[in-house]
Parts: sequence; structure tokens; C-alpha cells
Amino acid sequence: MDTQMMSICQTLNAINSSISSSKTLGQGLQACVEVLMKDYRLPFATYWQATQENDLQPLLWYGPHDISQRFHSFDDNSLVAKAYNSQGPEVWDASKQNHASIEGDFPDASIGFALCVPVSSYFTNYGVLQLACDRDAVHPTDEQVDVIDMATTLCAITLGKNEPLPHSWERSEPLLQASHICRTFTNGAVEMRVLEDTNFNVYPNELVVLLGESGCGKTTLLNIIAGLDEPSAGTVTFAGHDNTHASEKELIAFRRKNIGMVFQSYNLIPVLNARQNLNLIDELVEDPLDWKDALNIVGLGDKASNLPRQLSGGQQQRISIARALVKKPHIILADEPTAALDYDTSIDILQAMEDVQRTGCTIVIVTHNEEICRMANRVVRMRSGKAYQQYINLGPVAAKDLVW
Ligand SMILES: Nc1ncnc2c1ncn2[C@@H]1O[C@H](COP(=O)(O)OP(=O)(O)OP(=O)(O)O)[C@@H](O)[C@H]1O
Ligand SMILES: [Mg+2]
Repeated sequence: MDTQMMSICQTLNAINSSISSSKTLGQGLQACVEVLMKDYRLPFATYWQATQENDLQPLLWYGPHDISQRFHSFDDNSLVAKAYNSQGPEVWDASKQNHASIEGDFPDASIGFALCVPVSSYFTNYGVLQLACDRDAVHPTDEQVDVIDMATTLCAITLGKNEPLPHSWERSEPLLQASHICRTFTNGAVEMRVLEDTNFNVYPNELVVLLGESGCGKTTLLNIIAGLDEPSAGTVTFAGHDNTHASEKELIAFRRKNIGMVFQSYNLIPVLNARQNLNLIDELVEDPLDWKDALNIVGLGDKASNLPRQLSGGQQQRISIARALVKKPHIILADEPTAALDYDTSIDILQAMEDVQRTGCTIVIVTHNEEICRMANRVVRMRSGKAYQQYINLGPVAAKDLVW
């Protein structure tokens, strides 16, 4: 067998085992996309799933630039989508059951080639997969394009049935939008770029998990979206309002009204009991949640008079969540909230987060624990100061079912 044939067989083999170990179309495509990106050196990928209204929703993207926004919408019956390049939109019709290649300059990203492949079985169009590479990169060969076509069809036939879009993923405007964020720290003459052109959106009432190796910039990004730190470049908008150049006074008001922070180290005041720790906050905000209600949401209604040292680590963390809730925040930003806790206590905290989400609050959890991704509505991964992967979790599990 020649080397080209051999490498095709290897890729097909990897695809086959990815599909057989996946339960849903979303999972299968994700696993296949990872194989294809690696084997064919394609740095960008996006999968759009068709909704019942035959609209397309991005469920997965890889790459530093969120190219998902660049490929939307189409018409009533057939799955016709548009991919944009600098010359304007190109219409692509998935119902024709063939792929389309689009070449040109894409704004923002340096994409020079994009391949759109229908994800469909005989009767159903499930969505569209787009793979793309840089302008100067080697484009996939015809044989490789055939493999990509085959992989998506195999996924659709094997895994395509009965996978409705999750209820939590209805099209909505982001509540918070951090775009093209850069953050540079200077230490004497040394300049350190911690965030480089990072995009990160948060949608209403979702639980999003942000993962990445130590030092990749997660806390720095959280501080920027919380208005605790200013980006060196880029914009942060909250509910359509641009916060990027807000004054310190405006930022304090913004944080008081909208943001609840939860840290790994609880940050409770040791000489104040649980109730007093909460009361400190309710004096600062206009319309606080009653401290008793906040304690009840986290299941500690009977611990109001305990000092932090009279509470376990997990209970202290729950008090710190209750303290964030007193503000009735729109978003809770939790930076490694379970890192200092054992398994049982971590599950308790994650269940408290679920309860908080049910009150209508949006939650961002930064963690190193992969398992927590399974309860998220959306997962975002960072590497070297960039968000490089994002996907919608089509079947989030309850916190009590997580195992590590
Ligand atoms: N105020 C600062 N001054 C200088 N360097 C900083 C500052 N804050 C963060 N850094 C540097 O920025 C990089 C990213 O830090 P950050 O705390 O955002 O990482 P992280 O992803 O949260 O890591 P971890 O998972 O360990 O918490 C690190 O190398 C850190 O040393
Ligand atoms: Mg951190």
C-alpha cells in the first residue's frame, strides 16, 4: 500500500473508533473534527446544527477566531447557508448534498480556504461542518476532502437520530461580550503578553466552564470581564453597554449591580459570622436578596450564626456563594471554586451552583477539572492567552452524576 493510501486508512480508522465511542452526533462530530484537524493540519473548524425551524446554530468552533458568526442563516425549506469572505456572502446549498470550497480573504482571520460539508443522512440534513485553513497553508487534497465527506456522512447515519437542540441553547444575544481582548503586563523592561486577541461571550442563564492550563490567562480574563482590570486592547460589553473605558466609579457600580465573584479561597471575614458576612454586602446594594433566602438557596439556612472557622471548607464556600447571591447578580464568576475541596464537598458546591442557575443567574466557572465540563451548557478552552475551542454541551448531566 502506498503512503498516501496508508495515511487515509489511518485517518478513517481513527474516525471509525471516534464514532463508535460516541453517543450523540455532537460528540461524534467533535471527535471526528479533532482527528481531521490534526491529520490534515486544519486550524479552524465550526459545526452548525440545523434547528427545527431549519435555521443554523453554531455548536462547536475551534480556532482563535470565532468564525461561527460568519456563516449564518438561509431560507425556509432547504438548508442554504451563506459563508462570508471579503467579496461578500457566498450562498451554499446543503440540500445539493455536495461540499463547497470557498477561497478568498476572510475578515479578521487569515483564512484563505474554507470547506463546507453537509452533515446529512439520506433523509435528513443535520447541519454543516466547515473546516478552514490559513491563506498560506497547504489546502486539503481531493482524497482528503472525500474522507471529510465520508466522516460527516458516517456520523450522520450512525449518530444522527433524535438529537434535539438543548433547551438552553436558543438563539440569544450575548449578555457579556469580550472581543479581541489583549492584556500585557510589564515587569521592569520585560513585557508579557498574557491575553492575545481573545474572544469570550457569555449567554443569558447559561453555565459556562472555562478550562486551560495553569498560567494561560483564565483569571486575567475573568478580572477583565468583571471590570476589575482593564484590557490593553479590545472591548467588553455587558447587555450591549460598552464597559471598556468606564471610569472606576462606573465600574464599581457595574460590579455591585451585576457581578458576583466566588474565589478558591472563600475570602470570608473571619471575625464575622455567616449572616454578618452577608450583611456586609446587602448594605452596599440597592435591592439585596434577603440574607435568609441566600443561605437557603445554598442549603445553609441553619448556619447563620456560625463563624467561618466553625464551618467546613465546603460550607464556607457555600457561604461565599450566598454572599455573591445577596447582590442578585446577573452573572456569578467563580474562579476554581472547588479546587480546595474534596470530592463530596465539590459536588455539594456544584449542586449549589445548579440551584443558583435555576434562579435565572448566569454562571461562569473556571476550573482545571475536565469532569465539570459534563454539567456545563457550554465549554470554552484557553491555551496561551487565547480561547481556541468552544462547544455547546448537547446533554448536560446533573452535578450529582459527576465522577472523578
Ligand atoms: N498583575 C500581574 N502582573 C504581572 N503578571 C501577571 C499579573 N497577573 C497575572 N500575571 C501573569 O499572567 C499569566 C496568567 O495568569 P493567570 O492568573 O490569568 O493564569 P490562570 O490561567 O488563571 O492560571 P491558574 O490556573 O494557575 O490560576 C501568568 O503567567 C501570571 O504570572
Ligand atoms: Mg487562575
